[in-house]
Amino acid sequence: MADTTRLIIDTDPGQDDAAAILMAHGLAKRGLIDFMALTAVAGNVGIDLTARNARIICDWANEKEFPVYAGADKPLLRRLVTAEEVHGSSGLDGVELHDPQCPLKSGHAVTYLIDTLRAAEDNSIVLCPIGPLTNIAQVLNLAPDCVRAIKRIVLMGGNYFEAGNITPAAEFNFYCDPHAAQIVLQSGAPITILPLDVTHKAIITTPRMDVLRRLDNVNGPRLAGILQSYERYDIQKFGTEGGPLHDPCAVACAVFPELFKGRECHVAVETQGELTMGACVVDWWGTTGKTPNALWITEVDADKLFEQIAESIAVLP
Ligand code: BDR
Ligand code: CA
Repeated sequence: MADTTRLIIDTDPGQDDAAAILMAHGLAKRGLIDFMALTAVAGNVGIDLTARNARIICDWANEKEFPVYAGADKPLLRRLVTAEEVHGSSGLDGVELHDPQCPLKSGHAVTYLIDTLRAAEDNSIVLCPIGPLTNIAQVLNLAPDCVRAIKRIVLMGGNYFEAGNITPAAEFNFYCDPHAAQIVLQSGAPITILPLDVTHKAIITTPRMDVLRRLDNVNGPRLAGILQSYERYDIQKFGTEGGPLHDPCAVACAVFPELFKGRECHVAVETQGELTMGACVVDWWGTTGKTPNALWITEVDADKLFEQIAESIAVLP
C-alpha cells in the first residue's frame, strides 16, 4: 500500500457530500485510497447535523468505527449561511435517517488535523475539503508547519467562468467562509480547485442515476434516491437535464487526476465586496504576473467520472 493516497475529507453533508463520502469508502474498499478520517464543518446545515450526517453515511458503508470529528460551528468572521433550500432541513433529504451507531470522536477536528499532519511524513496526506474551508484555514493559521505534510489540498469550491450559485457572483463554499478560502489559497500548500466551472460539466443525468439505482446493493438505490431529491432543485434552477454533482469531483480528482484538465493560475477570493463577497478572481491569462497558487480545473471526462463513482458504490453493502 506504499503509494496509496492517504486522504482525509473535510465535509458538511449535504447530499452531494454523501455521494463523495460513499465514493471514498468504496475507493478504500477497492484499495485505491487509505481513507483516514472525516472532519465535519458547519455549512449546508449546522455542525450538529453535518457531524451526525457524516456518521450516518459511515454506517451506510458499514464503517461503524470510522473516525469522524466535529469542527467549526461557524465561519471565521461571518455569520453562518446554510443551504437547507437545496439539501433539506436534515441536510440529507431524500432518504430515511437513523440515529448513527458510528460514534463521534472526542476532540476538535482542527486538533485532530494538526496532530495528524504533525505526525505525518513530508508530502504524505491529501486533504479533500468539500465544504466551507473554516477547519482547514484554522489548521493553517494555528500550525503553518503542517503544510509540510500536505501532499495536496484537492477542494470543491469557487467559480469563475460559471455564474455563482448562492449569489450572482459566488459559489456556496467560498461565499460561506471567504476569509477561510483566502487563507487556504495563501498558505503555500499545493492546491487543486474543482470550481463550478467543472462541476457543471458533471451532470447527474437520468441514465447515470439509473446505473446507481440498478446496483445490486443497498447503497446504489439509496444514493440514487438522495441524488434524485438533490437535483430536483438544480433542474428547476438551471433548466438542465440533471443537476451538477459537485463534491464527488474533488474525491475523484484526488485519485484519478487524469480525468480532469485545468490550468495553474493565481486565484484570490473577494472578502470585502458587498456584491462580490466570496467571488474568485482567477488570473487565467497571467495578466498580474503573480505566481500561480492553484490548479484551476475546468474540464472533466464526465462519463469516466460517473463510471468510477458507480464502481466505488458497487463495492459497498
Ligand atoms: C457546494 O455547496 C454545497 O451546497 C455542496 O455540498 C457543494 O459542496 C457547491 O456549491
Ligand atoms: Ca459540500
